[in-house]
Amino acid sequence: MTDIAVTLADKRGTLSSDDKLGFGKIFTDHMFVMDYVTGKGWHNPRIVPYGNIDISPAAMVLHYGQAIFEGMKAFRTEDNRVVMYRPLDHLKRFNNSADILSIPLMDLDLVHEGLRKLIEIDKRWVPQSLGTSLYIRPFVISVDPYVGVKVADQYTMYIILSPVGAYYASGFKPVKIKVEEHYVRAVKGGLGEAKTPANYAASLKASEEAKKEGFTQVLWLDAIEQKYIEEVGTMNIFFKIDDEIITPALNGSILNGITRRSVIEVAKDWGMKVTERRISIDEVFEAHERGHLQEVFGSGTAAVISPVGELSWKGKRIIVNNNQTGETSQKLFDCITGIQQGRVADKFGWVEE
Ligand code: COI
Repeated sequence: MTDIAVTLADKRGTLSSDDKLGFGKIFTDHMFVMDYVTGKGWHNPRIVPYGNIDISPAAMVLHYGQAIFEGMKAFRTEDNRVVMYRPLDHLKRFNNSADILSIPLMDLDLVHEGLRKLIEIDKRWVPQSLGTSLYIRPFVISVDPYVGVKVADQYTMYIILSPVGAYYASGFKPVKIKVEEHYVRAVKGGLGEAKTPANYAASLKASEEAKKEGFTQVLWLDAIEQKYIEEVGTMNIFFKIDDEIITPALNGSILNGITRRSVIEVAKDWGMKVTERRISIDEVFEAHERGHLQEVFGSGTAAVISPVGELSWKGKRIIVNNNQTGETSQKLFDCITGIQQGRVADKFGWVEE
């Protein structure tokens, strides 16, 4: 395998106390970097001190957004081991995003090796208390100094690391969601399935307006009929109607969440009925009217599980499960975070040491 060169930082930072971490504001001492040039392929994988990057103001990513990213986590277990959660599943999704954005695929064994090495070097930055983790952010940017529109010939791939606390400062409690009737996040045949900056840029205006109206986030509907449910904020979404757990089927415009996958696998393992299918917003409101809507929750790497306590749509407001965290949401949160932090046996083989 290609050698990964290591240049260590002269000075090391210090990890602040776990309760001051917040989300995504603090970065560790080192980062992984690798370059791509057409004809040469991906080359020069290296670990270097964390720092600002030097790109041309004409770098293509700044103008046309050809870029991708991932979000995954490492944890410190109670017995002081540092483990990663489903890293290969995340890296496979990273390459899938690369494919959608016409970015050259990476050798995942090499990236995995680089990530393991980086975490080994910066492992003292992995926090330990409940709800904390080391957030891992791999990303690729197109860097040709060229302002014409085309697929780039030069890219840089990075992995940076950030010790984080809980994603929502308000803690694990039900959130208030606005069903978005005007804006859409993604279209079928577009970029929706990729983790690419454009999808997050497309979400900002709607989410800002929803926040001004007192909501935590928006629920996205499909772009054509504005009828079928897609995602919630930056997360996948689940509905518990009677004893069945329903989540929108992957259709190209929905992100293929790793936590979504974990929820489906855990709930099925518990013997619950889990269905991936198209589900309309009318069906959810009707189920609530008939008293069958038990729980609604989002799933994502950052928040893991985020219960929804209220949904507003066309001037109508429904309260889900008395605005309390549902039993299934709580059980899933406890199980998945338990596996991640070593409190629950990892029968699925998701944790990598
Ligand atoms: C997640 O929910 O894991 C996300 O994708 C959020 C991240 C973009 C901060």
